This record gives sequence, C-alpha cells and structure tokens, in this order.
Amino acid sequence: MEVLHVSAECYPVAKVGGLGDVVGALPKYQFQAGCIAKVVIPAYKTRFFETHEFDIVHQAGMWLGHQWYHFNVWKEKSNVLGFDLYLLDIPGLLDKEGVYGHYNDTERFLGFQIAVLDWLNEWQHHPNVIHCHDHHTGLIPFLMSYGYKYGRLRDIASVITIHNAQYQGQFGWDRQYLLPSFDLWKSGLLDWNGAINPLAAAIKCAWRVTTVSPSYMEELYTSANGLESLLSHERGKAVGILNGIDTEVWDPATDPMLPANYDEHTFNAGKAENKAALCREFGLDPQLPLISFIGRLVIEKGADLLPEIIGRSLYELSGRVNFMLLGSGDAHVEWSLQQTRHYAPAHFNVQIGYNEALSHRIYAASDFLLMPSRVEPCGLNQLYSLRYGTIPIVRSVGGLKDTVTDIGDENGFGIRFIHAVGWDACRAIGRAVALYEDQEVTMQHIRQYIMQLDHSWDTAAKQYLSLYQSIAIVP
Ligand code: ADP
Ligand code: GLC
Repeated sequence: MEVLHVSAECYPVAKVGGLGDVVGALPKYQFQAGCIAKVVIPAYKTRFFETHEFDIVHQAGMWLGHQWYHFNVWKEKSNVLGFDLYLLDIPGLLDKEGVYGHYNDTERFLGFQIAVLDWLNEWQHHPNVIHCHDHHTGLIPFLMSYGYKYGRLRDIASVITIHNAQYQGQFGWDRQYLLPSFDLWKSGLLDWNGAINPLAAAIKCAWRVTTVSPSYMEELYTSANGLESLLSHERGKAVGILNGIDTEVWDPATDPMLPANYDEHTFNAGKAENKAALCREFGLDPQLPLISFIGRLVIEKGADLLPEIIGRSLYELSGRVNFMLLGSGDAHVEWSLQQTRHYAPAHFNVQIGYNEALSHRIYAASDFLLMPSRVEPCGLNQLYSLRYGTIPIVRSVGGLKDTVTDIGDENGFGIRFIHAVGWDACRAIGRAVALYEDQEVTMQHIRQYIMQLDHSWDTAAKQYLSLYQSIAIVP
C-alpha cells in the first residue's frame, strides 16, 4: 500500500497548528505499520528549506488561469523525517514566508493543487491513495475524477481528512477560470451555496471522508459551519479517527527543549525544576498552582473568555493561582490579555507570538493546562500535556471529550466543564486548585497515570491503513 499525503503544513518544515503535527508524524507511523507514506507540501520560504539538501525530481510549467508558472518538485535527500518529503516550489507564487494569510491564498493553494496533479500525472508508478488534508487540498478529488487532463488518475482512491470544518476556502464562480478544464456537467459538485467550496467538493468527491475524532464526527452532522446536511448525506463514507502524538518528539525524558528531563518515576523533581525555571523567567510564584493556555487566540478556542476567566479566578481564589499564556491570533484578544496583565503582574504572564521551544517548556512546567474550546476537532495540546504529567482542564467538546475523563468518573484523570462561559471554566479551575492544595498524593498518582497513557499514532496508523485497504485498487 502506498499513500501520498497532500497538505498545507508538515512539522518541522511548516507548522501553524495541529495539522502540521499530524502530517509530520502520521506518515512515519504508517511506515512502521507497513504502508509506504509520502508527503508533499508547498515550498514556502522556510528555514527548513534553506538548511536541508534537496534533489530536483520534476520540473514543468502550468497555467493558473491566464498566468503561466514554472514549478519544481524538490525531494529531501536524507529522509530526515522518516518518510519521503517533497516540496512543491512555484517561484513567484508559493515562495513567501508564512503559510496562510496572504492576499492571494486562493491562487496559492489552487496553484499548489494543480501542480501536484500535473506532477502525479507524470508518475510511472502511482500511489494507491491520495490523502488530502483540509480545504487547501480539497479540489484534488474532484479534479482527479473530472479534470480532462487527469484521466490517468481516475483509479487512484482519494481520502479527505477534515481537521477543521470552520474553514472551507470558498471563492466565487467568477474565478472558475483558474481551474484546469473539467466536465462542466459536474459543476454542481464544486458548488455550495452559490460559491466554489473546496471542502464541500472534497466531501462530495473523495472516496472516504475522515475527521480527527469520533465525537467531532458526530458533532459535524449538526454543526459544520453550513455543511451539516452535506455531511449527513455523505454519512455512509465518513468516519472519525482519533489523532495520536509523535512520542519521539514529545517525550519529557528526552526533550532537548526542557531545562530538566523527567519520566514517570522522576516527574516530581523534574516538573518542579521546570516550573521553577519558567516561574523565574516570567515572574511567577512557583509555590502556587500554575495553569497554562497555549494556542491560537481565536473564538473557536474560547480565547476571548480568557481575560474573564483569569480575572474572575484570581478574585474568587484570592490570588491562590498563577496563569501563563502563549499564543497569537485575534488582535482584540491579544490586547485584552495585555491589559489583564497590568492588573495582576505577579499572577499572570502572557507571551504573544509563536514559540515552539517555549510551548514545550510550558507543557512541562505547568500543573494544569486549560482548554476552554468552543470547537475542538481533536486537540493535541491536551495529549501533549498528559504526556508531560500536566492535568488537562477542558471543555467537554469534540476530541477533548474523547481523550479526557473527569476525575469524578471511573479512572478519571482530568477536569471537564460543560459550558463555554467564564463561570463554568472558573468552577473547573476551583476544582483544580482544590486538588493541588488538598490532595497532593492523588495528584501525584494522576500525574504518574497520565504520563503512561498511550496516545501514540500506532492505533490510528492501523485504522487509516485498513480504511485505505477497503478502497484502494491494488493491481
Ligand atoms: P489547532 O490545530 O486547532 O491550533 P491543536 O491542539 O491540534 O490545535 O494543535 C496546536 C499545536 O500548535 C500544538 O502543537 C501546540 O503546541 C501548537 N501551538 C499553538 N499555538 C502555539 C504558539 N503560540 N507557540 C507554539 N506552539 C503553539
Ligand atoms: C485542527 C483542529 C484541532 C486538531 C488539528 C489536527 O487544527 O482545530 O482540534 O487537533 O486540526 O487534526
């Protein structure tokens, strides 16, 4: 079995969030499960591209609407990621810093998809499955079936994984001319609510639809940013497969980004040392429980609730808690958090920006990790925090529901709350602080227990493999 993953992100080459983590790890574990897995992403201007060696494996040109572009496919030479990594380079279109947020993102990702298909069309030996991730690659299943020049690709099975249905990549029909010519009788497959909608097109045309947790799959039937009826209609080919984590990258015993390494036997001293170092760096009191948040500062993650949660908890708990935040996103949320910091500089610090190394230090140093998400397809932060012996405080939604059991329930190890509102999150924080202050022994047991939970990719890699086997046409 051979699969080609097509994605906008892949850690450590280009990562904005969990998509990068997934595409950087899943193929490695698929390899171990006996499936040849390859990855292609755009060649953005990144440090990785500049500091690694590549061979050119394909060169060609293509039309994007009325514009002609030359493109190159680079293959990383040393297999440093544990799988074949291809970077698709379109000078003048993709070779910019940053993954998303460019004025011409629609053209950038369309160009990427067309070049991937043109390149694939030239392969002698095709993969059995093309695995697309999110809307940036969502037009590929449609074009493989109905694009006139891609007849050779008709028998390759296609899979779309929805990492986040909030973002769908829609654009107007006035830009249809950007697509390579296709069977116009099939135009309806591209359409959703009067626009070309790449995610909807992928849900209609891919041979299988997956998302990143069973609970999010269920939620999508009633809440999918307008795609509910489509997903319900395609229910027969849809499945939720829970993400895993790369336990080689995320291992507190070997993590080179930590001031002190530790395992499930040495976590007491190890976590204390990491906490002392982080508290020193950010002016916090290491005696108090440390609750952290890491992530995109957007409404989906409940980031707008953070100023209220922090202010209210500090008031209700008379300052018996510390908060540390790392993230970037919505400018208003960033501003409110900076303001909150002025009121409680001894109990709260925030770093605005993206900082991979600091995120590792925070997972290791914290006592609790807070995730007040409104929507959470899977969530990887809670899985990293478990591995680092940090107790998750999560809203009961999506993948958080599938991975965190409340301490009040059998074999429970986390703290869950129901409503995405300040008072409910504060109640959960109150329970966390009570655990920290009154039940040291229980807390130690929980830490040791959660560090040993198995969230590696092994299970999911096997599930994807049997999904591929159920659809791939293997000659
Ligand atoms: P999402 O993909 O929706 O952002 P996930 O929980 O799946 O959420 O994954 C988020 C990933 O991005 C995790 O690896 C997390 O540590 C990382 N991350 C998010 N924000 C930051 C940041 N500001 N600095 C460093 N890492 C971050
Ligand atoms: C998305 C989701 C997140 C998930 C990640 C990886 O970004 O928001 O919940 O963990 O994709 O699948």
